[in-house]
Amino acid sequence: MKRFENKVAIVTGAASGIGRATAIKFAEEGAKVVLADIGDFDSVKSEIPNPQSHIYLKCNIGERADVVNLIETTVKTFGSIDCAVNCAGIAGKISKPVHEYPEEDWLNQIQINLVGTWYCVKFQLEQMVKQGGGNIVCVSSAAGLVGQPENSSYAASKHGVNGLVKSAAIEYATQNIRINAICPTAIETPMIMHGRRKLAENPEALEAAKNHQRMKRMGHPEEVADVALWLCSDQSTFMTGHCMAVDGGAFA
Ligand SMILES: NC(=O)c1ccc[n+]([C@@H]2O[C@H](COP(=O)([O-])OP(=O)(O)OC[C@H]3O[C@@H](n4cnc5c(N)ncnc54)[C@H](O)[C@@H]3O)[C@@H](O)[C@H]2O)c1
Repeated sequence: MKRFENKVAIVTGAASGIGRATAIKFAEEGAKVVLADIGDFDSVKSEIPNPQSHIYLKCNIGERADVVNLIETTVKTFGSIDCAVNCAGIAGKISKPVHEYPEEDWLNQIQINLVGTWYCVKFQLEQMVKQGGGNIVCVSSAAGLVGQPENSSYAASKHGVNGLVKSAAIEYATQNIRINAICPTAIETPMIMHGRRKLAENPEALEAAKNHQRMKRMGHPEEVADVALWLCSDQSTFMTGHCMAVDGGAFA
């Protein structure tokens, strides 16, 4: 029997990067997956096993109504939410110190990364309390563990996610609900290759990003997805409230 046979898993940010790899791994391991994203699902649909067994839902996690619809659609279609991996997030577009950071960009990152993740966690928990258990993983960041100069909004939003995860872990610890965060350093996805530091166009910045890890390389989205699935599985039943670095030794 596969590890997630008869399980239902929500993955936000499932059209790209870490979320895409997570959705595919859940499907490979037997889960029915609800893929949520604002982006296009063509690429993930072409690779996910049994593409017709899953749901693909346009959902902006920063919009309360979209997240409510995500939960309602999942429960209506599949009856429960066993696992949720909240991957959707955005990176800052520019590098600026706090006093020069544009207010609109600052607030937008908080709205998506923190408020959006909170909507997901809040309504996932509401359902998990009703059904008597469940398992949540939030993809935070190494920038949720330490400060990141010229990227304060992103770091603040991810520190916020870690605070949310730890607090919820305590609140629901006796209700058969676990919640953990994953805090990756540099993972090779469109976000980092084409984002703030544009690593795809900047060989020096690319080298620096690799050297930040003791392994002298960036991580692969699948290496983060493996940790997310493990945290959702019965192999980690005594784990809750962790904000776990996935970092190629960077924090060692
Ligand atoms: N790549 C890295 O180096 C790295 C490091 C640490 C943390 N992270 C975190 O990992 C998560 C996944 O990032 P990734 O690297 O796979 O990036 P990515 O850009 O490849 O994927 C992010 C996905 O989230 C979706 N998304 C963005 N805003 C959304 C919204 N409002 N509602 C729904 N979906 C939305 C995008 O459309 C995209 O498909 C993010 O939360 C990011 O902060 C990434």
